Amino acid sequence: MKDLSVNVQDIYVRMASSDSDHTVLKSSDDDKKKKMIIKVLLPLVFGILIMVMSLMVCYWRKKKRLRITIEGRLRNINETRNEDMELQLFTLQRIMNATKNFSIGCKLGEGGFGPVYKGILDEGEEVAVKRLSKTSTQGLEEFKNEVVCIAKLQHRNLVKLIGYCMEDDEMMLIYEYMPNNSLDSFIFDEKRRKLLDWPTRYHIINGIARGLLYLHQDSRLRIIHRDLKASNVLLDSDMNPKISDFGLARRFGGNEMGCNTRMVVGTYGYMSPEYAVHGLFSVKSDVFSFGVLLLEIVSGMKNRGFFQKDHSDNLLGHAWRLYKEDRSMELIDEALLESFSISEAMRSIQVGLLCVQHSPGDRPNMSSVVLMLAGEGSLPEPKQPGFFTEDNILQAQCSSSVATQFSVNEVTITLIDGR
Ligand SMILES: *[C@@H]1O[C@H](CO)[C@@H](O)[C@H](O)[C@H]1NC(C)=O
Ligand SMILES: *[C@@H]1O[C@H](CO)[C@@H](O)[C@H](O)[C@H]1NC(C)=O
Ligand SMILES: *[C@@H]1O[C@H](CO)[C@@H](O)[C@H](O)[C@H]1NC(C)=O
Ligand SMILES: *[C@@H]1O[C@H](CO)[C@@H](O)[C@H](O)[C@H]1NC(C)=O
Ligand SMILES: *[C@@H]1O[C@H](CO)[C@@H](O)[C@H](O)[C@H]1NC(C)=O
Repeated sequence: MKDLSVNVQDIYVRMASSDSDHTVLKSSDDDKKKKMIIKVLLPLVFGILIMVMSLMVCYWRKKKRLRITIEGRLRNINETRNEDMELQLFTLQRIMNATKNFSIGCKLGEGGFGPVYKGILDEGEEVAVKRLSKTSTQGLEEFKNEVVCIAKLQHRNLVKLIGYCMEDDEMMLIYEYMPNNSLDSFIFDEKRRKLLDWPTRYHIINGIARGLLYLHQDSRLRIIHRDLKASNVLLDSDMNPKISDFGLARRFGGNEMGCNTRMVVGTYGYMSPEYAVHGLFSVKSDVFSFGVLLLEIVSGMKNRGFFQKDHSDNLLGHAWRLYKEDRSMELIDEALLESFSISEAMRSIQVGLLCVQHSPGDRPNMSSVVLMLAGEGSLPEPKQPGFFTEDNILQAQCSSSVATQFSVNEVTITLIDGR
């Protein structure tokens, strides 16, 4: 591709210079030039055309293959699910009607693989429709991943898939609708954070822990989520948390050691050091993300973009410093001052710090986390967290074995190893 474009440029430059050198061209010269152009340019254009076409065919085939897999998978799930958790097949007509032809007004946001719409079915039931955007192949993979993961999972702390739609060129997944949006719309919002008192936040922390425990240990699949963050935790009408977005999730076979990936995906601020630097992920990288999330819920502050004028620590470093100085109370969100239970809040902070410890081996597994949150006994002493200053992260990036780059905004990013 590179060579071709250089050639094109060569030809262009030569012609231009000859034009300016000889203002009057002899007709034979002109003919020669035309012949030359036909000889060189025509094959070139043909070549490019064929290349573009084969690329398109390639993409189309891939899409079709994936589509067949997804369809088969969904049918399979429908058969293995028991009566009350049957997947519905929606017609495109019905979805169009429910989402007012995918109008902007119905759009809830942008998920990993495309836009998400709110829909109201004829019976008045509210649903969330995740629509696969037609242009992205990455999205197609994530869509498939979501189908593979979510469809077989049933837990009160995971979002529930109701059905799907596959018609013409459209692929969509239909979920139960979460009226209270995502967790980040509360805890990081100056006004709305006051709506979440301590009992609610504690309920949310425990719910996320149980959802994650189910993913890691209790489900039939055993899944590492890889992108746990405040915006991927949705809240139902009773403020029960539900983990969503399984586009990046991976199944793992029993061993805790985890896997290595060439492609680091995740969100800045929630990624564990071993994952961001070496592309190594395991259940313990999810535990790290959970720890970050827990400290964010308690403090009402974002780990990413955290700022204190007297030091360069991020939220983890800040929490660690306060903990060592026995001042953990100061970490707690001011909006909670009237409602919180000291013992529960202190316990949560300590569990959070245990989860974000630098070495994956030191971090507890999710069954221990659930027990520790509920328990009364004393907890182990946490060690220094991983990634506790912004500088840490920059250094890690430089010495990284996978080519990493972090995105500036809050969206999920994909890092590809530059081989
Ligand atoms: C799923 O199964 C139910 C009955 O068990 C059936 O009515 C429905 O058509 C099936 N859906 C698909 C897409 O196969
Ligand atoms: C579309 O919605 C209208 C009411 O909003 C309803 O009367 C109609 O039956 C729906 N059509 C389909 C195909 O669902
Ligand atoms: C959706 O589009 C169809 C035809 O394109 C139109 O008949 C229908 O009224 C539209 N519905 C809404 C709610 O805009
Ligand atoms: C959550 O959603 C329910 C139902 O829409 C609503 O009644 C409730 O006020 C919401 N809670 C908060 C804290 O916004
Ligand atoms: C979780 O950790 C506890 C304590 O270290 C251990 O006893 C338990 O076997 C672990 N569970 C799993 C599933 O690895």
